[in-house]
Amino acid sequence: MPPSVKFAVIPVAGLGTRFLPATKAVPKEMLPIVDKPTLQYIVEEAFSAGIEHIVLIQGRYKGCIEDHFDTSYELEDTLEKRNKTADLEMVRKIARLGPITSIRQKAPLGLGHAVLCARPIIGDAPFAVLLGDDLYRTEANKRSGIGQLIDAFEATGKGQIALMQVPLSEIHKYGAAEGKVDDKNERLFHISDLVEKPPKGTEKTDRAVVGRYVLPPRVWGLLEATKVGKGGEIQLTDALDALQKEQGLMGVTVDGKRVDAGDKLGFLEANLREALSRTDLKSGTVTLMQELLAELK
Ligand code: G1P
Repeated sequence: MPPSVKFAVIPVAGLGTRFLPATKAVPKEMLPIVDKPTLQYIVEEAFSAGIEHIVLIQGRYKGCIEDHFDTSYELEDTLEKRNKTADLEMVRKIARLGPITSIRQKAPLGLGHAVLCARPIIGDAPFAVLLGDDLYRTEANKRSGIGQLIDAFEATGKGQIALMQVPLSEIHKYGAAEGKVDDKNERLFHISDLVEKPPKGTEKTDRAVVGRYVLPPRVWGLLEATKVGKGGEIQLTDALDALQKEQGLMGVTVDGKRVDAGDKLGFLEANLREALSRTDLKSGTVTLMQELLAELK
């Protein structure tokens, strides 16, 4: 049996240009979905799946991310004095989610390079990678998105990446995986080729890489050997294509709903879905949506 997956890497070094001006002074990972920063959903997904240590790969000016997951003495003291017990407990819970270490990516050299920055902390162990733009909603009694990949890794010993079928006209925005569906489990896919953002007109598959990975430590060496690729950056996808050739790689279609919160419409969708899942907001949100639609008629 492969060793269990205890570490997760979450790259948060992006500039967030798609959300300017909101991201001029606030990292995009701190933009809220209803009332909680996007990154907190991802951190909770990882810890709920059994991850014991998260490594954040930071860019510049991201101190507020560390503050968010730290104890906030002044806020807690004020809430306590005002007898705001529920708020106090909610704030305290964030600092207790689990150990989170931050590392600086000193130059924006790409996702592959960002992930490689976690090597000194993780060492010779398998690890998960969660990208902050991809949010997964799974049913309450089901494993979280990354939890489903961890289960597949522990069952097969092979690296796992989350895949989703998208319209062929959209595949140029994603890592693209060729291969074949497993004979016994239609959610599993045996990857035979992986290309980062294939140019329009060269599409060969509609299976897109969507923000979750569970990888063996062999990836470190492959990342070190990876040359600059698409967009002049060191691409994780290129290292994973090398991994696929060497020891196989599988795709998992996550049982749940994935939303791209890195896209403006996806971000709105994530907010609406979250609001509709909250008992205190559901009926108000439905009424609001109905009113807005009626106004358009
Ligand atoms: C990254 C990956 C890409 C993947 C995408 C969505 O690209 O490089 O392979 O399909 O995330 O998870 P980005 O959207 O950061 O350019």
